[in-house]
Amino acid sequence: MGLVSGKVALVTGAGAGIGRAAALKFADEGAKVLASDVNADGGNETVDLIKQKGGDAAFARADVTRAADVESLVARAVAAYGRLDCACNNAGIEGTVAPIAEQSEQDFDGVMSVNAKGTFLCLKYEIASMLRNGGGAIVNIASAAGLIGFPGLGAYVASKHAINGLTKNAALEYSKLGIRVNAVCPGGIQTRILDSVVAQATKGRASTREVMDPLHPIGRIGNPDEVAELIVWLCSARASFVTGANITVDGGYVAQ
Ligand code: NAI
Repeated sequence: MGLVSGKVALVTGAGAGIGRAAALKFADEGAKVLASDVNADGGNETVDLIKQKGGDAAFARADVTRAADVESLVARAVAAYGRLDCACNNAGIEGTVAPIAEQSEQDFDGVMSVNAKGTFLCLKYEIASMLRNGGGAIVNIASAAGLIGFPGLGAYVASKHAINGLTKNAALEYSKLGIRVNAVCPGGIQTRILDSVVAQATKGRASTREVMDPLHPIGRIGNPDEVAELIVWLCSARASFVTGANITVDGGYVAQ
């Protein structure tokens, strides 16, 4: 029996990185997966990977900044699989690395729109759907940057603190109605986003591993699979008393 056998799981930003790893892990643990992304090629590739392993998955394109997209995405999960039990709100962008006085208004709006508003819209429609079928579990992907500051990443840090706040509020509002909501706060994870942040910060002069490994007490950055483990566990019945938490999976980064 898998951790989430027979459940229906929605993952946003499932076309790459942590979202792809989460979608694969949900399927490995027995869930039917609706993998969503703004990037159809990446999302379809994730679905192919799940099907190659014998899992049940479908792709639905959605831009999480658009309410209509998110509303029809949740409706699609219900149409395809009958209901929505688990959701991982993972889609995110990093924006431009620059101190606040040099950050553009457009960049700030762009990052807040995908990361903070996107998470709000996902919560809004997922919760409405879960209330109709008696409950569910949601995991938002925040960041260590949702708990502490990172110079040069003001918009990203603000957006990730917003996700941690939305998580606490959603948990308070819906715990008694059978919905648990938690946030996962990863440290450096080997994906495109981390490569982009390091390339911008070092002007391409150093590799991600050279810069980021020594910053983590455990001596290395993480891989997407190590985050996916926590996501799927949080969505499972094993985490029945966990809600409103902002949990690090960061090799000790925030403990420093
Ligand atoms: P990634 O860039 O590999 O994956 C992000 C995915 O989100 C991509 O497939 C992209 O197409 C999708 N996406 C972007 N904008 C979207 C939109 N408007 N609507 C729908 N999908 C959209 O990067 P990664 O690292 O896998 O990022 C996943 C999440 O993890 C993000 O929220 C990120 O902030 C968070 N995170 C990443 C860390 C890292 O070190 N890689 C550390 C902490 C948090």
